Amino acid sequence: MSETYHVETIETVETPETFAFTAENRKRAEAVIAKYPAGRQRSAVMPLLDLAQRQAGWLSRDAMDCVAGMLGMPPIKVYEVATFYTMYNLKPVGRLHVQICTNISCWLRGAPEIVRAAKDVLGVAFGETTADGAATLSEVECLGACANAPVMQVNDDLYEDLTYDTAKAVLEALLKGEAPPFGSQTGRRGSCPCKGATTLKELAGEHAAAESAPAPKAKTAKSAKAGKETS
Ligand code: FES
Repeated sequence: MSETYHVETIETVETPETFAFTAENRKRAEAVIAKYPAGRQRSAVMPLLDLAQRQAGWLSRDAMDCVAGMLGMPPIKVYEVATFYTMYNLKPVGRLHVQICTNISCWLRGAPEIVRAAKDVLGVAFGETTADGAATLSEVECLGACANAPVMQVNDDLYEDLTYDTAKAVLEALLKGEAPPFGSQTGRRGSCPCKGATTLKELAGEHAAAESAPAPKAKTAKSAKAGKETS
């Protein structure tokens, strides 16, 4: 069943232009391949697909064939990898690739509101690209930041702890070419409890005090030498 899906996915993509790595990316690809022992170069398939996608914006069949050729792999093995992971785009995407997680943690924390915000701003449904090619909207299953749900990824950046309003503001700013800060949109640090520490409060206090203390001065070569001589 899944094989039929894979073949259809590849066959229905519009005919791509010929793909070849730029000279710079070819060097990068060769450097990645060189990290693996002789005979194990196929292990470089994922970073090479990523490199091809960063160059072209998506993975055409020709790009996958190019990667297969460089790694001495049967093309079908590369298609299997590219069609398994959702981070590989098998058709062109807009300048902004907006991916919204609708998996359990995000859903329970308000993902439907984030979806509504994205649809209101972009005017497209999941799987569609705006008419001007500015953005593509995709639904994804877990972006690995469940503790900061609900989460949206735009290109390489994660926007976390979203609400309808903050998701809308982020997308509107991105469409204008601005660079709104990514990460938590409520200002909480990392994945700390959103209403402040609930356990280990003393430790949290000590940690906060240590963090607010002035950083020790870096040793100069002279002071380091003096310290060594007196020890
Ligand atoms: S469920 Fe949304 S990031 Fe994990």
